[in-house]
Amino acid sequence: MKNIVFNKAITLLIIASIPTLGIAASKSHAHPAWTWILNNFFFVIAATVAVAVLLSLWNLMNAMLSSHYRELGIEGYQSIDTEQVESPFSKLYDKLSGLVPIEKENDIMLDHDYDGIKELDNSLPPWWLYGFYISIVVSLGYLYVYEFSDIGLSQQEEYVIEIEKGEEARDAFAAKQANNIDEKNLIALVDAQSISVGMRAFKANCAACHGQEGQGGVGPNLTDPYWIHGGSTASIYKTIKYGVPEKGMIAWKTQMQPIMIHKISSYIKTIQGTNPPNPKKKQGVLYEEISTTN
Ligand code: HEC
Repeated sequence: MKNIVFNKAITLLIIASIPTLGIAASKSHAHPAWTWILNNFFFVIAATVAVAVLLSLWNLMNAMLSSHYRELGIEGYQSIDTEQVESPFSKLYDKLSGLVPIEKENDIMLDHDYDGIKELDNSLPPWWLYGFYISIVVSLGYLYVYEFSDIGLSQQEEYVIEIEKGEEARDAFAAKQANNIDEKNLIALVDAQSISVGMRAFKANCAACHGQEGQGGVGPNLTDPYWIHGGSTASIYKTIKYGVPEKGMIAWKTQMQPIMIHKISSYIKTIQGTNPPNPKKKQGVLYEEISTTN
């Protein structure tokens, strides 16, 4: 008896879950759990069907057992399918399933007889029929939203948006990596692209004081091996980043991305020993190169 109530409740739950999934589908930015269900929609349906099948098998087994026991005249088991349970669940279930009670089966019995096998003229179960009507209504809405209006996005549009999002995320990550630079353990970039970007930025921002060729002017010569603040890539980077404000060399960290400072420092390394005309005389101490990229 309890089993029957339980089984009916589960069946109702399963039936109710299908439109719920539909509603969830329209709110794709909902809770992660919903997103998971939506992403695994077919899995959920398959699992639901599997549960329903198991329940029906269980019901079938119970029915067969009780009729078997009834035949054997064992008391107590008859109650399983003869006693009607009048709970709100079972009432709703009966309504939705539209099953004709066994006592009234004669009314819907068709008059043909195939070697003793007879057929009942059951109507379609209301839950199924309503589901069918609802799906027709939903399909009209669906058709309008996705085919005739601008509300719903096509798969192609969704794809483009996803790709854009992915590219944004990738660029953000790359930018973070690129800015994740500081003066510790920095080595010079050597690729032509970075050097030429560094060169252009140098000519635009630094040449006024350090000369077009880095020969020096207001600021020191950057092509000779003598350095006030150190000649390693890391030292040059540090001088540019923090500047020497009291001597007229500004700190560039507020105006330039770390990657740009890195590129300019690397460019400065490439003009070492180029001996441009009109060099400013040496300042600072001799810097001995450990390696060309240091
Ligand atoms: C307004 C003039 C001015 C500008 C613009 C300028 N600098 Fe300087 N820079 C100086 C002065 C002056 C010094 C010397 C500081 C000192 O004496 O300590 C200096 C020092 C340096 C040094 C250290 C040199 C050494 O011998 O250690 C580096 C490297 C440098 N500047 C790079 C740059 C770069 C790269 C830029 C452009 C992004 C730049 N500077 C823009 C004036 C300038």
